[in-house]
Amino acid sequence: MNPRKITDKIHWLGAIDWDRRLFDSLIPLPDGTSYNAYLIEGEDKTVLIDSVDPAMKHILLTQLEKVSKIDYVISQHAEQDHSGTIPAVLEKYPQAQVIVSDKAKNMLLDLLTISEDCLKVVKDGETLSLGGKTLEFIYTPWVHWPETMTTYLREDKILFSCDFFGSHIATSDLFVRDEGRVFEAAKRYFAEIMLPFRKIIAKNLEKLSAYEISMIAPSHGQIYDRPAFILDAYRDWVLGEPKNLVVLPYVSMHASTKKMVDYLTNALIELGVAVELYDLTVTDIGKLAISLIDAGTLVIGTPTVLAGPHPAAAYAAFLANALRPKAKFLSIIGSYGWGGKTVETLAGMIPNLKVEVLEPVLCKGVPGNEALQRLDSLAKAIAAKHKENDFQNR
Ligand code: FEO
Repeated sequence: MNPRKITDKIHWLGAIDWDRRLFDSLIPLPDGTSYNAYLIEGEDKTVLIDSVDPAMKHILLTQLEKVSKIDYVISQHAEQDHSGTIPAVLEKYPQAQVIVSDKAKNMLLDLLTISEDCLKVVKDGETLSLGGKTLEFIYTPWVHWPETMTTYLREDKILFSCDFFGSHIATSDLFVRDEGRVFEAAKRYFAEIMLPFRKIIAKNLEKLSAYEISMIAPSHGQIYDRPAFILDAYRDWVLGEPKNLVVLPYVSMHASTKKMVDYLTNALIELGVAVELYDLTVTDIGKLAISLIDAGTLVIGTPTVLAGPHPAAAYAAFLANALRPKAKFLSIIGSYGWGGKTVETLAGMIPNLKVEVLEPVLCKGVPGNEALQRLDSLAKAIAAKHKENDFQNR
């Protein structure tokens, strides 16, 4: 794809990765992704913001064929999907300096084969004049690595945000045009990599509120020419209270746990509580992560196998513990054959969750009346807790 004009002297460069389906060997990419770089030409200096994943290096280098000079490469984030092609850019423009945050310097030296001499560290708030265009570097750590910074172009009021506000979507749209689709993709992206860092991200949002922003240009996905849309969404994801929602990842071996899951689901719906189920044998973990942003209560459904939770349920617990969602309540339901330590094992896997544990419901074999009554009690307890905490419907 050719470079695309954003405004006078500012162009999108980069690559659209239509067919990539997995990131970090972990994160599903149902809609592919893009790696966005940006070229800004001042009266005196020319800057490239970020680069592309090394697998798409040839595309960026082709786009740069008619660019006679680059004075600075701004590396906002050391992860290789944005920094990995910087060595190739430096081969073409050996005089260019690479601008980095203080923490990024050693990370780039660890990750790329570049010389320390070409790195120029900028402080938080430092500015760089390109001639008629002024860049301000704003440290925005932990979106999702510790070294990340964003870059504000004062004259045009554009925030180049790297991963912050990004979304994994491959599309020919340069600007966000389908806000529903982008909302879902950006929420998925936030859930997968930023959810654990909400407190720091809240500070970053507060910091950015001092800037007048007409456009947000992330390094994945489309450019927001109506930035209030994504800023409002982030405020809700970061600062909003949990919702009147139970998220219920489960696995069932011989249908008993599934019966319990279905019974609890019906009981919760009758009580006005929304439920989202995820069969862990088939689910897309990105969808589960999205739901965890809003969950008021997490219930894990698992049979007992090899004296503990099913490994798929253990994976869900591990994921939830790593993502540290806002949920305030947790329970466990499931069936067992003769015994085991399912509840103790799962409970021990989620130390990061600041939750009140509601009485788990485990039953032997197929759930009978007594187990179903206990599920009714659990549903009532969850509904009451959500009401007490004023969790709102989505
Ligand atoms: Fe898109 Fe954290 O790299």
